[in-house]
Amino acid sequence: MNNQYNTTAIVGAQWGDEGKGKVIDILSGTSDMVVRSQGGNNAGHTVVVGDKVHKLHLVPSGILYKGCQCVIGAGTVIDPKSLLQEMDSLAQNGLSFENLHIDARAHIVFPYHILLDGISESQKGDQMIGTTKKGIGPCYMDKAERIGLRMQDTLDLEKFKSKLKAVISHKNKILKDIYHTDTVDFYRIFDEYAEYVQKLKPYIKDTSLLVYEAIKAGKKVLFEGAQGTLLDINFGTYPFVTSSHPITGGVATGAGIGPTMITECLGIAKAYTTRVGMGPFPTELLDEIGEKIQTVGKEVGTTTGRARRCGWLDAVILRYSVRINGLTALCVNKLDTLTGIPKLKICTAYK
Ligand code: IMP
Repeated sequence: MNNQYNTTAIVGAQWGDEGKGKVIDILSGTSDMVVRSQGGNNAGHTVVVGDKVHKLHLVPSGILYKGCQCVIGAGTVIDPKSLLQEMDSLAQNGLSFENLHIDARAHIVFPYHILLDGISESQKGDQMIGTTKKGIGPCYMDKAERIGLRMQDTLDLEKFKSKLKAVISHKNKILKDIYHTDTVDFYRIFDEYAEYVQKLKPYIKDTSLLVYEAIKAGKKVLFEGAQGTLLDINFGTYPFVTSSHPITGGVATGAGIGPTMITECLGIAKAYTTRVGMGPFPTELLDEIGEKIQTVGKEVGTTTGRARRCGWLDAVILRYSVRINGLTALCVNKLDTLTGIPKLKICTAYK
């Protein structure tokens, strides 16, 4: 029996960049709350409203609508510098943040994560993942190792200072002794981050409770997925994946609600397939049709500016996505990009 809640989880059914932003933006306009439950500023989409261009990376799309509560949940990783830049640019467009809430449990991305992301990629050679180099993987590594710093650690600056000092001393050993590279300066990072976290302090709270209460009160709650199913660290094309759970299961753990509180699971796909970064891509087109799709579909990464690899629609991965996410609906975008291609192909099985 279906539950009684007015909730929808939106996930990418392919390798990300399926046009989730557009769908989420449309649905945000009639939602009471929009929640990000995983990932960080590796995601990104642009929303154009009138003559205003809004660039979103971590702030939920609901911020564009007055009265919509916006939650950055516990399963996300937050680069405070990047988040504040994003908020500044949104503020310049006249937006305000009284409805923004950041979970106290969300982990913080530091400069050493970004540094280590780059070093680790450069050492992998042809096994390189092609990450966004935003420090996402190394931040989730610290979370799993249980040495990460969380938003709530910043509420007492003295405690924050001593925790950060211990972690940086550990990271510097790795940078110096393993990677034989320059170390990072604790005082510089602390001073910089102490300023950022002061600015973010008013937004830090227990958002899992806020989401629960909103759902219980019958509010319309949207869970805004980032990346895509095939980038999930468990069910994606490992190791060519991101370090979080961009599937509907990740909504429960990332937002901190029970799975029975999610009513609809909407998967977003494109009428063809794209992927940025390395890793398997069975229907990839390395010919002029692939180039045409890339050009007509403007398939360039919002966050990194990289050209996306393009290929035919892959029904095998879509069926997989339906299963992994328990999809109740599918939205197919960008059919018009294929206009003029005389014969369209759909992959229905692998050999
Ligand atoms: P990371 O998330 O930066 O560690 O990157 C890991 C993989 O996920 C790489 O292949 C990235 O290109 C891909 N990725 C991360 N975020 C996005 C996204 O928002 N859209 C599409 N691919 C992404």
